[in-house]
Amino acid sequence: MTQPAPALNPLAQAANEILAKETPVLLSLLSARGKAFYFPAKGILAQGAEAKQKATVANATIGIATDEKGPMYLDVVHQSFAGLAPKDLYDYAPSYGKPELRTAWAKKQRDETPSLGQHPTSNPVVTNALTHGLSVIGDLFLDAGDDVLITDLHWENYDLGWGTRLGANLHQIPLFDTKLTGFNQEAFVQALATFKGKKLVVALNFPNNPSGYSPTKAEAGAIVNALIAAAAAGTKLLVVCDDAYYGMFFAPEVETESLFGKLAQAHENLLAVKIDGATKEQFVWGLRVGFITYGVKNGTPAAYTALEQKTAGIIRSTISNVSHPGQSIVLKAITSPDFRKQQAEKVAILRRRYEITRQEVTKAAYADAWDIYPFNSGYFMCVRVKGTTAEAARQKLLERGVGAIALGHADLRIAFSCVTEDKLPAVFAAAADAVRAARG
Ligand SMILES: Cc1ncc(COP(=O)(O)O)c(C=O)c1O
Repeated sequence: MTQPAPALNPLAQAANEILAKETPVLLSLLSARGKAFYFPAKGILAQGAEAKQKATVANATIGIATDEKGPMYLDVVHQSFAGLAPKDLYDYAPSYGKPELRTAWAKKQRDETPSLGQHPTSNPVVTNALTHGLSVIGDLFLDAGDDVLITDLHWENYDLGWGTRLGANLHQIPLFDTKLTGFNQEAFVQALATFKGKKLVVALNFPNNPSGYSPTKAEAGAIVNALIAAAAAGTKLLVVCDDAYYGMFFAPEVETESLFGKLAQAHENLLAVKIDGATKEQFVWGLRVGFITYGVKNGTPAAYTALEQKTAGIIRSTISNVSHPGQSIVLKAITSPDFRKQQAEKVAILRRRYEITRQEVTKAAYADAWDIYPFNSGYFMCVRVKGTTAEAARQKLLERGVGAIALGHADLRIAFSCVTEDKLPAVFAAAADAVRAARG
């Protein structure tokens, strides 16, 4: 016997009604799970938040232990945290994230994205770094069988998270043209046309992992225009801008603004989502602090609130909230007057490695070993090995004491982000040698 579908919680119903009235396309983009989700506004968390404001005699709501000074803590724990107050470490952070951090991150995004202008977006919701942000977006917007466009060169975890876990159909399009000169606009436009009039999720990751490519300014404009044209033709688009490596731009022709800036105000049929975070930008991989931010042309405060509630509801149901120390440390960093200078110093080190990598990998002496995928940004670059497989070359390279990542049939990813300048020439010499040895 088939069970009747469970009735929607009234809070989910209310959020859906707001979306239906203000931004109807967004409601149609949500997965069945996304439609059902809500933030338990009258639950424990909300009652606790209310008590925090009003309970002046005693607050017996919260699921932490306190003393006269605030959260209880052990000295053996606290000695590891210099300069942060117990309340910014041990108390739970809200499921939406630490409010001051959300505000500071929103300001940072706007400073870095002038094309956003005054267009309203949602407030960023804090995630357990970018992997979690992508997973939450998958939960909210992907039903099994939904279509996703993704470039052939992409971070493998998309397959696991959106493909294996959620059952979405990931359609790969070639990132580069056949001559490996730049973004394959033709393939992109053609692929968009295939889904005309349907729901489609598009994953854009620039700087790209694994290729280290970001579009030029002209290419970025063309990508945005192609998406606007598809939206105007009736396709209902969720465009995910995975900005994991934002800010690591090394070549002058690169577009240094996130595509989110233009996409967030592009068309009523296009919901742009910015997935970003401190992980790579601020060199804090283990802190696990990321953000989800929404933007749509007809976005209103009520519609954005509805989306934020659903997002926080997924977070509440899975991890409850993101680690508080990480959020406090990132907040302190990005509001420090020294932040930009220190970040620029590290990016300059990566830029120098990028320049040496370019000089080495393009040497005529290695032309027999590989084709080079365009690269201009990020942490990595990729070569397509000739006459052997990437895995065979990787094994030979390991015998020479150098680690690299084999991807697909012939792609070898080299992370110049974790090789010091002095070692880069030897890495590429060993890689060319390994490719030749692998041919046997
Ligand atoms: C393209 C891309 N997106 C997202 C992530 C996930 O980053 P995080 O460590 O913040 O979860 C990575 C990490 O390698 C990545 O390369």
